[in-house]
Amino acid sequence: NSLDLDDCFQTALDLAKEAGLIISEAFKKAKKVEEKTSPRDLVTETDKLIEDQVISKLQELYPNHKFIGEESTAAGIKCELTNDPTWIIDPVDGTLNFVHSFPYTCISIALWVDKKPCLGVVYNPVLQQLYTARKNAGAFLNGERIRVSGKEDLSRSLVVMEMGYRPDEKKMEVVHRNAKKLIERCHGTRALGSAALDMCLVAEGAAEVYWENGLHAWDMAASVLLITEAGGVVLDITGGPHDLMNRRVLCAASPQLAQQMVQLLEVYDEDRD
Ligand code: IPD
Repeated sequence: NSLDLDDCFQTALDLAKEAGLIISEAFKKAKKVEEKTSPRDLVTETDKLIEDQVISKLQELYPNHKFIGEESTAAGIKCELTNDPTWIIDPVDGTLNFVHSFPYTCISIALWVDKKPCLGVVYNPVLQQLYTARKNAGAFLNGERIRVSGKEDLSRSLVVMEMGYRPDEKKMEVVHRNAKKLIERCHGTRALGSAALDMCLVAEGAAEVYWENGLHAWDMAASVLLITEAGGVVLDITGGPHDLMNRRVLCAASPQLAQQMVQLLEVYDEDRD
């Protein structure tokens, strides 16, 4: 049976908006927070509620599809990307922001088929930013077409990067060396605490580069499509092809800029998703 992508896109939009209402409602209130792998790796009742709601609805509508979700994975469900249509969900990206009521948090929903992204929806209900992309049909912010800035020179580029803490001294040394080199060479650096939204900033031309070593498939599954549909580049930080399950991403407003980043960045390995 063939896949109706119009229907899937409408479903993703409806689910993102429903989740947005839950996030907005909970945003200013006290949150029930649990630590996962560390005091900086958090989950709230909102993350769990949204993921349960989104996956049950998708399962009901598309019983043959597969699912990858941040909280399902944390609960021990196998995280596997095959050629089958696979929905990849981060119920609350920027959970630490959400916990602090820092208004930079979103839900991210993507559908991948044959290991390629077909649609992506990233919704920040606090700032009312709805980012959408469909394969070969462009990237949009609240219905308006967006494009990367196209800048080519790192010294004139704004670089967004998350330098999440790693309980491993060797990895932290790499993080610090990379940060130092970038601070010296680019126009400015920013870190806003949601990989999915950071990537959307590159897609809309507000920043030129986003890279991270250590993020997960659900943080980037929707936003990689936003970048490419906005005319940007998505690579592995070694310069090779991007691999969704390999915990790294380099997004840039032009191939020239991507190459300058590849020359500069040092990489460390994480366990694959
Ligand atoms: C995290 C955020 C953060 C990034 C981490 C992600 P979560 O996602 O996107 O900015 O640096 O790598 O895991 O846990 O808030 O969904």
